[in-house]
Amino acid sequence: MAYRATALLALSGLASFSNAKPIQSYGSTASGSDSSHGSMTSTHESSMPSSHGGSLASSYGSSMASSYGSAMPSSNGDSDHPHGSMTSSSPYSASSNYQSFPTQVATSKNLLLSNGFPNLSPQALSAVNNAAHGTLSNATGPPPSFSPDELTNFQLVAFNEFFEVAFFTSLLTNITSGISGFEIPAHLNSSFILDTLIAVQAQEELHAINANTKLPIPLKTCEYVFPTSNFNDAIALAATFTDVVLGTLQDVAVIFAAKNPEVVRGVAATIGQEGEQNGFYRALQNKIPSAQPFLTASARDFAFSALNQNFVVAGSCDVSGIDLKIFEVLSLETANVGLGDQTITLSFDISDFHGTTEDLAFVLISGQNVPIVQDLKNVKQEGNKVTFDADFLQQTDLLFGLTIGAVVRKGGDLATVDQVADAAIFGPALIEVA
Ligand SMILES: *[C@@H]1O[C@H](CO)[C@@H](O)[C@H](O)[C@H]1NC(C)=O
Ligand SMILES: *[C@@H]1O[C@H](CO)[C@@H](O)[C@H](O)[C@H]1NC(C)=O
Ligand SMILES: *[C@@H]1O[C@H](CO)[C@@H](O)[C@H](O)[C@H]1NC(C)=O
Repeated sequence: MAYRATALLALSGLASFSNAKPIQSYGSTASGSDSSHGSMTSTHESSMPSSHGGSLASSYGSSMASSYGSAMPSSNGDSDHPHGSMTSSSPYSASSNYQSFPTQVATSKNLLLSNGFPNLSPQALSAVNNAAHGTLSNATGPPPSFSPDELTNFQLVAFNEFFEVAFFTSLLTNITSGISGFEIPAHLNSSFILDTLIAVQAQEELHAINANTKLPIPLKTCEYVFPTSNFNDAIALAATFTDVVLGTLQDVAVIFAAKNPEVVRGVAATIGQEGEQNGFYRALQNKIPSAQPFLTASARDFAFSALNQNFVVAGSCDVSGIDLKIFEVLSLETANVGLGDQTITLSFDISDFHGTTEDLAFVLISGQNVPIVQDLKNVKQEGNKVTFDADFLQQTDLLFGLTIGAVVRKGGDLATVDQVADAAIFGPALIEVA
């Protein structure tokens, strides 16, 4: 089949992933930042991170002195790639002089990169700019005054981008340290893939800093877990969380538009940027780069819920100052949601809900369309676990790319994504088709 549609990131899969590990503090000292400006003393092999706490103090590149992009390896070396070893060195070398990604500061499990991220010195920022192929805006002018709701926008963006930096840092670390499962598939140009991911990781650092530095009290980073254990799943997951971001930044733009419309320009610039990324992640999965004519709308509470339900280690950072909701988990039980009209099955734990399933409706959000509302069908309860069916009329309704599912309290209007989020109790279920 040309289109292999999958239900990525079914919350059931993510929420219950027991082998997910945080990107670890590798037991190194935080001297990696020195190596990004100093001379490189260790060899490629000896500087590789191991999964058990090897030194990450030095970077692994072989071209520290060269500028980004000037020293690409000419072959990808897949033929002698060491499969199956957790600690072997990687065949890949990266050309960047920006080397923060393989390392985390040992004293904290929370995201702190060896270049100092999220607090970059001018020199470290300059290295990130080079790797990101551009800079933070240097526009000047009187600082805008932001309403509490607008500050919540910046908090959510920073909170999300911190996660993304951690994710791409972990992915790059896994690829470049030869973790089994993270070999770049042989048919791909590994130099190109690495170049892309290095730029993305640095670009996400700048997205995070741009938002976090707008806050009177900047956020601190968290500890994260990722449910993925191979390259293909990681790319599919990147596509899904990027889809959520692409929907949520629509909401962020609408909120800024009321009082600080000039900020919308930067939001739009970020939406386009994340869309470029997503075309790449989709193409790697043999999906057409552009999923649908108008990307699926989301709301801030859905993004905040998905991040907390799936990736952020509870209690590892203080989220109490972020005025957004964390819904209860809605698990997609159907393993593969493909093309065609079909019935899907979902479940949730009803123990904290004050009411019955009669009070609830199921909503699907796709594109910029009016949300699709239906009753829960075939409801079953075992203990606190409620399982139900729902129509997923993929062909009739042309549900391509991301569709967001939520279980909401009946009664109010459900004509917009914000109304759905206001009424939501369980969600989001993130359903990807083609
Ligand atoms: C802003 O950045 C551009 C591009 O890097 C640079 O040419 C310009 O001098 C900078 N302007 C200010 C005011 O810093
Ligand atoms: C990197 O590898 C570790 C160990 O296998 C895994 O737990 C983590 O999820 C991987 N990171 C990503 C982004 O997939
Ligand atoms: C692989 O990608 C690099 C850029 O990252 C490029 O210079 C090189 O020509 C590509 N190799 C092939 C065989 O296309």
